[in-house]
Amino acid sequence: MNKINLQKLLSNAKKIIPGGNQLISKRSEMFLPGLWPNFYKKAKGCSIWDLNNNHYYDFCGMGVTSCVLGYSDNEINQQIVKAIKNGSMSTLNSYEEYELAKKLINIHPWSSMVKFTRSGGEACSVAIRIARAYSGKDKIAICGYHGWHDWYLSLNLKNKNNLDKQLLPGLKTIGVPKSLSKTTVPFSFNDKKSFDKIINKKIGVIIMEPMRDKLPDLDFLRHVRSTAKKINAVLIFDEITSGFHDNYGGIHLKFGINPDIVIFGKALGNGHPISAIVGKKNIMNRSQDTFISSTMWTERVGFVAGIATLNKMKKINVQIKNINKGNYLRMKLYKVAKKYNINISICGLESIPILKFLHKDSDRLMTYYTQEMLKVGYLAGSQIVMSSSHTQSIINQYIKAADEVFKSISKYISSNKKVPLKGAVKHNTFKRLTT
Ligand SMILES: Cc1ncc(COP(=O)(O)O)c(C=O)c1O
Repeated sequence: MNKINLQKLLSNAKKIIPGGNQLISKRSEMFLPGLWPNFYKKAKGCSIWDLNNNHYYDFCGMGVTSCVLGYSDNEINQQIVKAIKNGSMSTLNSYEEYELAKKLINIHPWSSMVKFTRSGGEACSVAIRIARAYSGKDKIAICGYHGWHDWYLSLNLKNKNNLDKQLLPGLKTIGVPKSLSKTTVPFSFNDKKSFDKIINKKIGVIIMEPMRDKLPDLDFLRHVRSTAKKINAVLIFDEITSGFHDNYGGIHLKFGINPDIVIFGKALGNGHPISAIVGKKNIMNRSQDTFISSTMWTERVGFVAGIATLNKMKKINVQIKNINKGNYLRMKLYKVAKKYNINISICGLESIPILKFLHKDSDRLMTYYTQEMLKVGYLAGSQIVMSSSHTQSIINQYIKAADEVFKSISKYISSNKKVPLKGAVKHNTFKRLTT
């Protein structure tokens, strides 16, 4: 059979889909411009087959951190197929909506009500609306990434570099009403001074990721918690990425600091669209006084996937296992780097190690790493997401392959040469992709 020209296919897709797809983080340019396989035919466990049937192990994103239980899990599939056969949409409501809400409240005993949406950014927008309705104040303090909506991007209206400090350099605000410019203010993670500088009684909502690439300073988190209470602001933890990876529930449970609202997405449905806004009753009930409503938020598969995912995560204790795998991988990669005298850093959640080359050409080195790992059957990048499908043997094979690439990188570095790329250097910002 003739091979499909995947790059040609991608350039054709770009002619009718702006950017070629819907998620910037999944674009080829973020990994290996001009060479990334881009389209998949099948995904199972931690394996992916591209349209030419090439097989890769995913040591990259596992569906942008969503598939903690591996791709296309049989037990979850079984429940979903059953739900589809019995009708995934009807005039009446899905009973599983109630079941999933009860489960989330049980996991988070400080909470008592839940709303559901389908994507993460959408869930953040709902949480913000509810929090504003409750506090009666428009102004929001932000720390982290919370999706694409106007309320969030408005942060860059007053100062186009505000989001740079939230690890999102180059986000543009074209299309966002300028009148929103005074509604949002940023603060930096683990930085009490930057928080105290922007906080005042006009702030009605504080939204933040309680952890992303660094562990929180618990004094800082406690300070944010107590300040929110003092100024009568709603504290929202956005756990769309951190939730259900290192522990069963929000990572805030590990830290012993509870928000007023927590948001989950991604891992909650193991890749199926479901996200949740979980919060305190007096606050969540304000959603009845404003208008928040959508047809597809009632669709059954998301709820069924959520329940099946939570059940299986609990049954196999997946978080502990993934933490152990992540820490093992971290230790091995540091050893390999030391062996070849390469400076690296690895941060992130324990089950999501984030690898970085500490070098002036770090993006070029990462692109080379991706390029060479792809040749031997791995989707490899900076963010390495562990799942129940990553067996010890697969992880060891990956480390062996990484050892070879590190060896090659060290030769170039020590002879002061650039690592050779077949295409361009990967992008490390959204900027160049949106232009
Ligand atoms: C913390 C956080 N909030 C919000 C979002 C947006 O979620 P989605 O891409 O599902 O809209 C993400 C996505 O990466 C995220 O990590």
